[in-house]
Amino acid sequence: MRPTVAHSDEVGRTTRTTPRRVVNRLNDLDGKQWLPFQKSWFRDHPAVHEECIRFFTKRLRADGTPSVVLTLAGTPAERAVGEAATAAGRRVVVWPTKAAPPPERLDCAALAGQWESDRPAAQPPADYVLVDLRGRLPSLSVLRTFLQRTAPFWSALSQSDVLRERGYTTVLIDNWQQDGALVPVAWELARYLGGRLTLKDEKIGCRLPAEPRQTPHFETDGRVYYALNFRREPARSQEPFTGRWWPEVGKHGPRTTDYRPLTGPRLCSWFVPRPPPREPGKLTHPATYPETLVAEFVARCTQPGDLVFDPMVGTGSTLLACRRMGRRGFGVELNPEYAAIARRRLAAAGDTPWIARVVEGDARRLAAVEGVPPQVDYCITSPPYWDMLNMRGAMTQRGRRQRGLHVSYGDDPRDMGNVADYGQFVDALVEVYRQVAAWLCPGGYLTVVVKNVKKQGTIYPLAWDLAAALGDFLQVCPERIWCQDDVKLAPYGYGNAWVSNTVHHYCLTFRKTC
Ligand SMILES: C[S@@+](CC[C@H](N)C(=O)[O-])C[C@H]1O[C@@H](n2cnc3c(N)ncnc32)[C@H](O)[C@@H]1O
Repeated sequence: MRPTVAHSDEVGRTTRTTPRRVVNRLNDLDGKQWLPFQKSWFRDHPAVHEECIRFFTKRLRADGTPSVVLTLAGTPAERAVGEAATAAGRRVVVWPTKAAPPPERLDCAALAGQWESDRPAAQPPADYVLVDLRGRLPSLSVLRTFLQRTAPFWSALSQSDVLRERGYTTVLIDNWQQDGALVPVAWELARYLGGRLTLKDEKIGCRLPAEPRQTPHFETDGRVYYALNFRREPARSQEPFTGRWWPEVGKHGPRTTDYRPLTGPRLCSWFVPRPPPREPGKLTHPATYPETLVAEFVARCTQPGDLVFDPMVGTGSTLLACRRMGRRGFGVELNPEYAAIARRRLAAAGDTPWIARVVEGDARRLAAVEGVPPQVDYCITSPPYWDMLNMRGAMTQRGRRQRGLHVSYGDDPRDMGNVADYGQFVDALVEVYRQVAAWLCPGGYLTVVVKNVKKQGTIYPLAWDLAAALGDFLQVCPERIWCQDDVKLAPYGYGNAWVSNTVHHYCLTFRKTC
């Protein structure tokens, strides 16, 4: 297959051309094989190591020798990575080589001191680094100890005699949870290694769902893991990733209040909603979420008759889902056109203002909004994903414009989608949710649907940053991943670089514990 190549990345001004011949410098895959790997989530399978190796390396280097895959000694999957590299015809190097066989539990104390003496400098630099840490680092303190002990390994990855220029590093790792609180081990590792290499888009591995189990808190079944991808740039051309530090688990633990514990089974940590096609009113809006997504959270976090709030209600998806489930709803929306669409949709569903109400207003000044209730039981909402709609690829914009549909929320300066500075945008969002938190009943939940964003090749981990910031005043609950399966994929970066089609969103849930 001769692929259509998308220049720039998925959110830059994209132009597509069909060149006569694309030289694939990264791997030996053709366009058809390349495409599925570009999707930012995948169903877990036993050949995950081999698939990564085949994507991030060619079988042979320019000098005709097999590509070199480097892995970290003492990790439980060391042998599996070696076998996958061999199966793919690559050579594996384990560092440090003198390490004892992998221990039952990950304990790198045995490796301390061996790094310098055992440095694989005589080897050609690795073409790719693959480290599998899944299932082994259950807390932030265990992670930090592990990183301290293995620091020489991670530091060396930024050196040209260890990893070649533009070589990739993949770390497979999972977040954990404890008593309904998230333990964001994977996000912390991303922040740590992002200070040494350039963080590229993450992929989400989705395992088969576990048996449903009753839980009093918002837990998920923990069936996702992260494939964090990093690249060693020739010269540091991008700002290092500077995520925020995570609050220690327990800071906002469930012990403060057990007001209204949840009764149903825990939710699966990933889901693929299959909503019906969007009706014309909803389609006008450039970024809505499906009502089926809202319904699952409302069922888990509220009881019949409860009041649900959405401070950026758009076309009213939250309220329609609530109505169907016998909950009341209150929504605020800045753009009068979307507020009108939301009201029309509710009226068409036979609603009354007692059940659901939409008010025009600015979410940044909720106290000034007419009719805001004194307390709400639950909030589910989705903000603009920073100013990404203003950056959308020219093709997408043209297609929507031709059909008379909106490509952004408008040019109102109060619109959060028009805040150009990332830091200011995150701070403003945090202030909106601080107000929401004040209105939540004790023990009440807030769910924010959001994405990490990629702008001109740089990753801005909006979801992770938001979770860290809200962790200052709310308990961060385990994440659920909304996996989209109905988006046409494009072979971005074909032949050169890993540029994912980001088709997963984070449903971040928080709990008011005091
Ligand atoms: C991601 S959309 C929400 C879509 C909604 N969940 C739906 O399904 O229709 C974000 C919404 O936030 C609104 N918005 C942006 N800034 C706002 C502000 N300062 N106050 C209230 N709404 C705002 C936008 O107009 C947009 O409709």
